[in-house]
Amino acid sequence: MSGNSRAVTSNQKGVHERLEEVVLRHRSSSYLKPVREHNLKAFERLQAFLDKGWQGLILDSCCGTGQSTLRLAAQFPGHAVVGIDQSEARLGREGLTPPSNLCLLRGNCEDLWRLCLQHGIRADRHYLLYPNPYPKSVHLKRRWHGHPVFPLLPQLAPVTELRSNWRLYLEEFAWAWKWLGHSFPAIGEWRPQTPWTRFESKYLASGQTLFRLQAYSSDFES
Ligand SMILES: C[S@@+](CC[C@H](N)C(=O)[O-])C[C@H]1O[C@@H](n2cnc3c(N)ncnc32)[C@H](O)[C@@H]1O
Repeated sequence: MSGNSRAVTSNQKGVHERLEEVVLRHRSSSYLKPVREHNLKAFERLQAFLDKGWQGLILDSCCGTGQSTLRLAAQFPGHAVVGIDQSEARLGREGLTPPSNLCLLRGNCEDLWRLCLQHGIRADRHYLLYPNPYPKSVHLKRRWHGHPVFPLLPQLAPVTELRSNWRLYLEEFAWAWKWLGHSFPAIGEWRPQTPWTRFESKYLASGQTLFRLQAYSSDFES
């Protein structure tokens, strides 16, 4: 990917003034939007894949072309490593010959996450690498931490890793995580030796600073 990507700009100066209210409202209500048919089909594929008796599950949500999913499949050879993306075009782009522990699903995370939880499926680790930032203040609810599905995220995996080239996205996510009752996640700069994803490559080639957040869920503490 070329190195001509511009840094994120926003009309927000800091954490969105309505974020706490939005997160607390979502925490005290249930997200009831019906699950779409194509996501039910994708979930059936996931169930069939998980039947093969893996050590556990690694989720790579919003995986784009699946470059990071491929890397994770090599890193966790005994785990089922599942990439989810809504874009069929992106998922097909790498022309991968997938290893047997990798499964790419075309679907919407908000539905597949809910289906996993409803069926008792949990991941050992959850990666969310470079989700769309939606930097305009008016688009808060399109960011994952402003979405009604957000309160379910800590139930899905004990550790969630989020990366972005927009630090404020991570700061907001961290506050939202804390307002759900978990400890405030650590945020640091992320300087990989080799990029994990296409967007990570593009941002690095453009000289942008990258950030990583690791969020631990108290739902998994014994
Ligand atoms: C900025 S790209 C990052 C892709 C990849 N993680 C990377 O770093 O190269 C964001 C990705 O999120 C996907 N996406 C956005 N909303 C989604 C949703 N609700 N469910 C699944 N995928 C979604 C898009 O199709 C896109 O591929």
